[in-house]
Amino acid sequence: MCGIVGYIGDKEAGQVLINGLRRLEYRGYDSAGVSLTNGDELCVVKRPGKVAALSQAVQEEPGSLRQHRVGVAHTRWATHGPPTQVNAHPHLDRSGRIAMVHNGIIENYRDIRAHLEQKGHAFDSETDSEVLAHLIGDYYQGNLLEAVCAALQKVEGTFGIAVICQDEPDQVIAARRGSPIVIGVGKNECVVASDAAAVVAVTQQVIYLDDNDVAIVTPGAVDIRDLNNVPVNREISELEWSDTSAELGGFEHFMLKEIHEQPDSIRNAIRGRMDFDNGTAVLSGLGTTPREISEVQRAIIVGCGTSMNAGMVGEYAFENFADMPTEVEQAAEFRYRNPIIKASDFVLAISQSGETADTLAAVREAIQKGAWVSGICNVVGSTIARETGRGIYLHAGPEISVASTKAFTCQVAVLLMIALKFGRCGRLSCTKGREIAKAIESLPMLVEQVLERNDIIAKEAEKWVETDHAFFIGRGYQFPVALEGALKLKEISYIHAEGYHAAELKHGPIALLESGIPVVALVNEAPGKEKTIGNAHECAARGARIVGLITEGDTETAALMDSVIEIPKCPDYVAPVPMAVALQLLSYHVARLRGCAIDQPRNLAKSVTVE
Ligand code: G6P
Repeated sequence: MCGIVGYIGDKEAGQVLINGLRRLEYRGYDSAGVSLTNGDELCVVKRPGKVAALSQAVQEEPGSLRQHRVGVAHTRWATHGPPTQVNAHPHLDRSGRIAMVHNGIIENYRDIRAHLEQKGHAFDSETDSEVLAHLIGDYYQGNLLEAVCAALQKVEGTFGIAVICQDEPDQVIAARRGSPIVIGVGKNECVVASDAAAVVAVTQQVIYLDDNDVAIVTPGAVDIRDLNNVPVNREISELEWSDTSAELGGFEHFMLKEIHEQPDSIRNAIRGRMDFDNGTAVLSGLGTTPREISEVQRAIIVGCGTSMNAGMVGEYAFENFADMPTEVEQAAEFRYRNPIIKASDFVLAISQSGETADTLAAVREAIQKGAWVSGICNVVGSTIARETGRGIYLHAGPEISVASTKAFTCQVAVLLMIALKFGRCGRLSCTKGREIAKAIESLPMLVEQVLERNDIIAKEAEKWVETDHAFFIGRGYQFPVALEGALKLKEISYIHAEGYHAAELKHGPIALLESGIPVVALVNEAPGKEKTIGNAHECAARGARIVGLITEGDTETAALMDSVIEIPKCPDYVAPVPMAVALQLLSYHVARLRGCAIDQPRNLAKSVTVE
C-alpha cells in the first residue's frame, strides 16, 4: 500500500527519496510524488503511474531543486479519489509552505473539510490527506511541531505522516497512529519511512514510532514526543536486513527469487528450534511454560490472504498433534463480530508484514478480551510483533513480491512446530514427536526436490496461457493448499481461479465446468486420496482437464490424470509445503507466459494497512 519516505541530511534529498520510493514499489501503488525545500522555496513534483515517471520529471526540474537537503516523498495506493496527479501526495496546506505525505485514512475528514471550507479553505483533490495538510497549516503559527500535534488531536482514523515546512527547513516532523513509521538514524542524516526497506540503503540503526508518537527529525538525531509535546523514549534497534537482500540477485523477478530462497528461509525458520531428543520444538518466543500450554482450551488462528491459508494448515496440525480444538478466522470478521473469547484461549495472529490492519485490530480485540495472544510475523519490529509482545519470527528475510511465497511455507513450518510443542505438552508421545520433528526438518530438502522440477512445471504452464478459469481441489491438509494455489494464480496471472474442498465441487461449482478447463487435484498419499481422485473424475467426465499433484512414483494415479506434477514422498502434514511450492512455480510460469507484472500485480498491495 502507500509508501512514505522522508529525508534530511547532507546528501541530495531528491535522489535519496526517489531511491527510497523504488524500494517501496513492491508494496503496490498507482502514483508517486516528492516535495523538497531549502528554506527559500518549497517545490512539489507528482506523477500518476510509476516512480520512473516521477524520477524523470524530477530530472527535468531546474538544478537547484535537486540540491535540496530535506524532503518527503510518497507512493499512493488510491483510496479516496482515483490515482490522478492532483490526488497524489505530497499535499500542501493553504499557504503552499507546508507539504505532507500520509498513509492511512482520516475517518472524520468530511467534517474537518466542511469546517475548513467555512474558513475559506479550497481543496484541489478529493483526498482525506489534503484535508489533514490544510488542518496542520490552519494551526501553524511559526512552530510546525505544535501545529502537527494540534491537528492530530483533532483527527479520527489512522495515519503515518511526514511533514516539512519551508519556514523550518531544518527538520522533518513524523507521526503515527495505526500506520507504521520507522526512522533510520545515520551519521549527519535521517530517513523517515513507512517500511524498513526504504531505510537499509542509508543505515541499519532504526527507531520504530509507537501510536501517537510525534518525532522531530534532524540530521542524525531524533527527538520523540507524545501528542501533548511531552518527551518519550524509544530505543534504537538494528535492522536484520542488509542492503542487498532487497535486490534481484540475477533472478528475473522477486517472486522467482523468493520461491528459490525457500529451502534457506525454511532452514532459518526452524534453526535452533527443534529438540530431536525430546521430540518437540523449542519456542522461547512464545514466552510460556508447559503448564500454561496445558491449560489452553482452544486455539483461534487469525490472518488474511495467504497468511490465513497457512493458518488453516495449522488448524489441522493443532487438532492432529495436540488434540486442540482450533478455529481459523478471517481477521476482519473476527474483529467485528464480537467473538466469544476466554482467558483460556490461545489466539495466534499470522502476518508476514505484521502491519495488516484487520489482523492488528483482531489482535487488539483478543488482548482486550483477556486471551493469550501471540504473533507469527516476518517483519521484525512490526506492529503486530510488538503489540503481541510474544510470538515467533519467521526469519524468512524480506519478501518483496506482492504474492507471498516464502512467508507461506515458513508460516506452515512454524505452525507445525507450535502444534508439535503443544502436542508434547499434552498426549503426543515422544516417539511420534520425534517422527514429526524429523519430518519438519526434512522440509528444506523436500522443497529442493520440487525446485528441481521447475522445467516440468514450466512445460505444464504452456498449456495454461489461454485459460480463463481454473479450479484447485484437495482434502485434509491439502484443502488449504488448494485455496492457496488458486489465490496465487489469480493474484499474478489474472486467471479466474477457485480453490475448493474436493467434496464441495459437486455442490455448485461443478456447474461452471466446460471442456478444457483445468482442475488441479492434490492427491498425495493421505486419507481421502481415492475420494479426491473420484472427484477429479467427475470433473473429467464434464470435459475438464485434470492436472494431478501426485506423489513421486505413483504410476497408478498418474495413469488417471491428463498431466501430472510429482512431489516427493512425505507425510501428509508436511506435504502442504512441497505442494504449495509446485503451485507457486506453476502460477509464476503461467503469469510470465501471459506477460503479467508478476511482482506488482494490478490493484494489489503487499501490506494492506486500511480496512
Ligand atoms: C495482502 C497481500 C497478501 C497477503 C495479505 C496478508 O493481501 O497481497 O499476499 O497474504 O495481504 O498480509 P500479511 O502481511 O498480514 O501476511
